[in-house]
Amino acid sequence: MKALGIDIGGSAVKGAPVDTKTGRLLAERFRIATPEPLSPLQMGRAIAKIAAQFNWQDRIGVGFPGVVIGSTIHTSANLHAKFIGCDGAKLFAKATRCPVALINDGAAAAIAEMRFGAGRGFMGKTLLLTLGTGIGTALAYRGVVVPMEFGHLQHKGESWERFAAASAREREDLSWKEWGKRLSNYIEELEALFWPERIIIGGGVSAKHEKYFEFLESRAKLVPAEFLNQAGIAGAAIWGAEGR
Ligand code: BGC
Repeated sequence: MKALGIDIGGSAVKGAPVDTKTGRLLAERFRIATPEPLSPLQMGRAIAKIAAQFNWQDRIGVGFPGVVIGSTIHTSANLHAKFIGCDGAKLFAKATRCPVALINDGAAAAIAEMRFGAGRGFMGKTLLLTLGTGIGTALAYRGVVVPMEFGHLQHKGESWERFAAASAREREDLSWKEWGKRLSNYIEELEALFWPERIIIGGGVSAKHEKYFEFLESRAKLVPAEFLNQAGIAGAAIWGAEGR
């Protein structure tokens, strides 16, 4: 079974066709940089461009960086405010003329990692974090993935993602050690509340885990995402193929 997976991020939209029985990308991903936040209509066009790139006319799964309930987008912390209240599945289905299913980006990454990656076969309580522009979060237990919004846990009057996302390291020009210690404090807070047995760290920085894992202290077993930055695309495609 195949579906097109799309991962909408804070700085780019990426997509690739995926074999949803293995999670493998079937072609090199196509990426459109979004230096300015795109409006919902512009985002529809960008996604249609990705679908056209692969001559796609079948099911599409889209991971969105905000709260998704049913197919309605409820928050858009790092993207255009006009997404709030949009029926994202309808919007992107209209733009691509394909059936579209929508899911939170962190939950999409968690589905791919739990099924085919660093959480494969593990039934215990797992916390998945994706570190990018924001922090995507999901909990998984006995094969069930639940989207969370732990990036917005408050710290010094702001969302923790302002301090510990990968974007914070770049914005504040932090060393890996400085940033790693912040991430460790954030993880400590999450552990006190949720007691995961395993924590999977995804997002672009998962490929560089050897630079900061040594600064992370955790009770849970800490592992990098096996899909690295492609978990969002793979999980969105799986959701597109079977999520509705
Ligand atoms: C959003 C989440 C999203 C995360 C990562 C946060 O700001 O609220 O829904 O999963 O960023 O993109």
